[in-house]
Amino acid sequence: MAVPLIIINFKTYREATGENAVKLARMCESAAKKAGDKVKIAVAVQATDIFGVAAAVDTAMVEVFAQHIDANGQGKSTGFVTAEAVREAGATGTLINHAEHKITDIAKRIATAKAASLATVVCAADVAEAKAIAGMNPAPDYIAIEPPELIGGKVSVSKAKPEVVSDSVAAVKSAGSSIKVLCGAGVNSGEDVKKALELGTEGILVASAVVLARNPEETLLELIDGTG
Ligand code: G3P
Repeated sequence: MAVPLIIINFKTYREATGENAVKLARMCESAAKKAGDKVKIAVAVQATDIFGVAAAVDTAMVEVFAQHIDANGQGKSTGFVTAEAVREAGATGTLINHAEHKITDIAKRIATAKAASLATVVCAADVAEAKAIAGMNPAPDYIAIEPPELIGGKVSVSKAKPEVVSDSVAAVKSAGSSIKVLCGAGVNSGEDVKKALELGTEGILVASAVVLARNPEETLLELIDGTG
């Protein structure tokens, strides 16, 4: 298996905005350095924070992802977030279709992101959506299964709905696809991460457990421990 990926989604939490985003990203960088090469860490930050965060951390240790991109190209697209702009600001990947930012033209966004050399993590709410995304052309690099009702809670998807995770992995891999599957929602402990990997995922997405933690670095290190 490839090195597991842990994406910390900063969402729009005050604790992860502006100066706080930079501080939190540095804590993630510190945890990543302690973990060495056993895990890959990425932070998904607000568009307004990509440039500052990417300039403040070693992006070889902590990759910076956008949380969303629009399909518009550069030029006459006032107010839209283009793939080229987030790449230029320092992002190397993007979330697409997060449960809190659903879109309809997923394949078009994947193509837009790929054209700008961004890694693509497309979120799915259930097995059917994961399967549909896996069949898209172009295919994303990752599909992240996140049941919306578990997001922000204290019970991990890997414990509350293990079958949704394993069935999503099976659905994505059934056509011989090389898309990697992640899961997220309610991930709080190293045990949750371990279980997610046992179910066939290649990493996790996490937000509240790290962003709102009393000691985010310590919490992230505990999650990293779960990768084995
Ligand atoms: O993208 C990750 C996210 O939706 C999960 O949120 O707070 O349940 O870890 P949380």
